[in-house]
Amino acid sequence: PASARRDADGELIVGGVRVGDLVRAHGTPLQVIDEGEVRGRASAIRAAFEAAAAAHGTSARVYYAGKALLNTSIVRWVMSEGLSVDVCTGGELEVALAAGADAGLLGFHGNNKSVAELERAVDAGVGTIVVDSAIEIERLAVIVGRTHARQRVMLRVNSGVHAETHDFLATAHEDQKFGTPLDAAPALVARIREIDGLEFTGLHCHIGSQIFGVAGFRESAARVLDLHEALLEGGDVPQLNLGGGFGIAYTRADTPEPIERLAEGIVSAVADGCRARGIRVPALSFEPGRSIVGNAGVTLYEVGTIKDVALENASRRYVSVDGGMSDNARPALYGAQYSARLASRAGLGDPVLVRVVGKHCESGDIVVDHEYLPGDVIEGDLLAVAATGAYCAPLSSNYNHVPRPPIVAVDGGRARIIVHGENLDDLLRRDAGIER
Ligand code: LLP
Repeated sequence: PASARRDADGELIVGGVRVGDLVRAHGTPLQVIDEGEVRGRASAIRAAFEAAAAAHGTSARVYYAGKALLNTSIVRWVMSEGLSVDVCTGGELEVALAAGADAGLLGFHGNNKSVAELERAVDAGVGTIVVDSAIEIERLAVIVGRTHARQRVMLRVNSGVHAETHDFLATAHEDQKFGTPLDAAPALVARIREIDGLEFTGLHCHIGSQIFGVAGFRESAARVLDLHEALLEGGDVPQLNLGGGFGIAYTRADTPEPIERLAEGIVSAVADGCRARGIRVPALSFEPGRSIVGNAGVTLYEVGTIKDVALENASRRYVSVDGGMSDNARPALYGAQYSARLASRAGLGDPVLVRVVGKHCESGDIVVDHEYLPGDVIEGDLLAVAATGAYCAPLSSNYNHVPRPPIVAVDGGRARIIVHGENLDDLLRRDAGIER
């Protein structure tokens, strides 16, 4: 987190709290999240899109994509910063509702929302349901027919632009499960429009995650605008949702675009496209997740075993920690790169190239693939792994019967648990073969 600094002895302080104090109170591994940074990023992103939209004669709404990290505290933080929240399952919806969220400010996604999930969303008064297929439209038709509810609906389309990490491709990425191909969309919109109780508000598209640069978003917006314009023949299309996906820095090699530049680049592409077509600029919405919480998180681990393994011309130092792929699956799943620091003290000795690994029975259980750490790192030291605020806790597991760590929020020198950790009893309780 941006609040991270070190005291005179080199101990890391996050959100005004010493990591040693955090670990004495809560153990390791420990997921720490800086509340001030989440709030600051949320409000900065909202302000950037609102300013860009205002400059181009429209409005913007920012939904926090809850899949990146979801609990009732986060929902309350981002909502109090003026954001809406996007959920993608019935479970995520219940968290948002349990947080006391105004249901009218929620968006509900997913490519296979069940009848029960859709019923719950309609009953709760969810603001927008983003439908993904013809079958979902018919499920909703039955629900609103029975309940006489009125439900706003967007249609997720696949713009054919697929952007991930540092580049984007604008061809042949229709072959994936999300959204409706652009050419199939008019028939689905016509069907939504003929159902009493459903109100079609606009198109939705999301091109990927951890995207750098603005080109992919602009290309996607241009493609979706052609469809948006065509749909105006059948009625008003007041909104357009361009999804999330803004990349963050995990290591020094990552250089994301400042959010103001991104916002201006994306919004101007829509506004220019509308002007060229002679149509009104729709109200815009966006759904960032990672860029709000990613850099606000840090995971603390205790160093366990250390060994040097001889390579052909060098050696590699393996530093094992007391967590790993069960609390952060991203390196194993995506080859994601992270950075680590010695957190409990400054450290001495020439930096050594290390690989930080977890405690799981799997060789792909890597926490940080390569990192220079002080040569005197020993058993019992604390390591901090940065930028673990997004998609770590949500993808966590109990692989090898490892309990999931708690999540502690820090802010202004205070720390409090926002998600309890598990213990072994929690895990063993599920085993139906244990007599009690
Ligand atoms: N909107 C929709 C419809 C999405 O599918 C996603 C992410 C987002 C918004 C938020 O994207 P963000 O701003 O967080 O990039 N588990 C992967 C990321 C999966 C993203 C899924 N959808 C990872 O750890 O990298």
